[in-house]
Amino acid sequence: MCGIVGYLGRENCKDILLDGLKELEYRGYDSAGVTILQEEFANFRSVGKLDGLVNKMEDFQVEGFSTGIGHTRWATHGKPTEDNAHPHYGSFTHIVHNGIIENYIEIKRELLQKGYSFTSQTDTEVIVHLFEEKLKSSETNFEAFQKTISELDGAYALLLITKDEPHRIYFAKEGSPLILGTDFENGEQFFASSDAPLIGKVKSVIYFVDGEFGFVEGERVTLYNSTGEIEKIYSQLPKDREVAQKEGFRYFMEKEIYEQFQVVSDTLMGRVLDSKIDFDEFPPELFDGINEIKLCACGTSYHTALASSYLFERVGKFRVSVEFGSEFRYKNPLLTKDTLFVAISQSGETADTLASLKMAKNSGLRTLAICNVDNSSIVRLADHSLLTRAGIEKGVASTKAFATQMVVLYMLSIYVGKLRGNLNVDEVLKEIQTLREIPNTLQVTDDLHEKIKRLSKRYLHGHGFFFIGRDIFYPLALEGALKLKEISYLHAEGYPAGEMKHGPIALADPELFTIALLPKTILYEKTKSNIEELGARDSTICVISPENFDLADDFIRTKPHNHYMLEFFEMMLVVQLLSMEVAIRLQNDVDMPRNLAKSVTVE
Ligand code: M6R
Repeated sequence: MCGIVGYLGRENCKDILLDGLKELEYRGYDSAGVTILQEEFANFRSVGKLDGLVNKMEDFQVEGFSTGIGHTRWATHGKPTEDNAHPHYGSFTHIVHNGIIENYIEIKRELLQKGYSFTSQTDTEVIVHLFEEKLKSSETNFEAFQKTISELDGAYALLLITKDEPHRIYFAKEGSPLILGTDFENGEQFFASSDAPLIGKVKSVIYFVDGEFGFVEGERVTLYNSTGEIEKIYSQLPKDREVAQKEGFRYFMEKEIYEQFQVVSDTLMGRVLDSKIDFDEFPPELFDGINEIKLCACGTSYHTALASSYLFERVGKFRVSVEFGSEFRYKNPLLTKDTLFVAISQSGETADTLASLKMAKNSGLRTLAICNVDNSSIVRLADHSLLTRAGIEKGVASTKAFATQMVVLYMLSIYVGKLRGNLNVDEVLKEIQTLREIPNTLQVTDDLHEKIKRLSKRYLHGHGFFFIGRDIFYPLALEGALKLKEISYLHAEGYPAGEMKHGPIALADPELFTIALLPKTILYEKTKSNIEELGARDSTICVISPENFDLADDFIRTKPHNHYMLEFFEMMLVVQLLSMEVAIRLQNDVDMPRNLAKSVTVE
């Protein structure tokens, strides 16, 4: 996810900005850049790791007072190229921006008509040209800045510097984080998109909230919101860097569970339109002559593949098959060119998935990657790729990568269904409405987390866990079981609820814990009967459902929803939190579980 830094003062602006960007590296990025304004602007940008940018700036010296802005970019609109890297600039203004400007296409169209030219494919570049355009009808830079941000729809945290006010930085925040630290003694101002770059530089900071904007000059901050000029109280900055990176959470995994609602909004942004799904990453002709989609992945990504196979067939009415990378590569599969091969991977480096993708390519199949890491091996190899935009995932146990993969595949199933004429207008609108509601469903409430925390103390022993569910809740049960075993080291298996009586039920006794996914909107009565069968054999049962279940030993209530996918995402949160709370009580290292690696580059 992108990062922002800014500085104004007499210290070495270049070093301060580069140090700040280094502190933001943990969030992930694929290009970086800096602009420093002394007499003139100096702009440096490079693709890849920060070392490239540091080398480019090697001979550049800063003397005396200067103003600077810097950025690490995680590509969303446009590839990770130097032209697409921030800061973007116009004739006399430079800008860095996090977030996504939803109406950038309309703004760009108008600016092109007015004669502005663009050097990047980004949404951000429109802001800088819009500012310079607004200046023509404004008395002051600040007025032009206000007019500019009032025309932006979407999310932004942005810093803007302009040549005739070299001692000022303009800022605005809506939907993306932005923090200001002030050193009153030395008249210095520091901006960053998270705490880490500010630690050791300043003690007190302002955490801006949505709708706030203004400018800094010397040690002064001029701050506005929709009601007019406001005063804001400074807060204390955390002292420890790793604590700061975790943003108040105990573990990265916990932070990543909590930020799912936000990253899923990023995944949807620009792709979900009023009455259709739009991917500018590939042409619709990708599906010409295609009769089957083959989804291939490992681990958690395999579970997303399996879950989405229900969506492709039910929503998109399109044939799919699902393969484990480690199996597919050695099974001498029969491959035909009417198959689209889709490799799904968080890291983009998983050896078995990569080898399977190579095989598919060598057999002449068209290929698509669904991945969280741009420029990874899988993305580079596939013909096309859809990035999941989860931001870097630090916890080895995948959470937000799973959620964002699911959302991409859900969108793809609607896209394919519409493209093939398998969905009518009302059906498309219904699915789009559901997609838009997913981020809200992913908000972790205090009540839910507290309930799971308390309940987890009863699940620290036993001879095993069954996670059970039907339909798309079966792959979710598999994922719940995988999460629990990865970080708690307890034995857990996922099963289709209807399979119990074909063998596994022999294990049922009070020391066998059943975690039952019981949605209301799909196969409710059938799943309920399967849970009762286990209860009758004395298994200890924890039911997750919006409906009361009198026979359960434990019960976690979810909200009622009108679509099974909203139930799916809420239950996903529950199983993630439950696994994490059990592992925390067992005093395990939740972020770095034993024997596991984040990126599995060996077979
Ligand atoms: O990077 P990938 O999605 O290709 O990784 C696949 C698996 O190794 C990964 O999902 C693994 O199962 C995680 N530890 C799940 O939490």
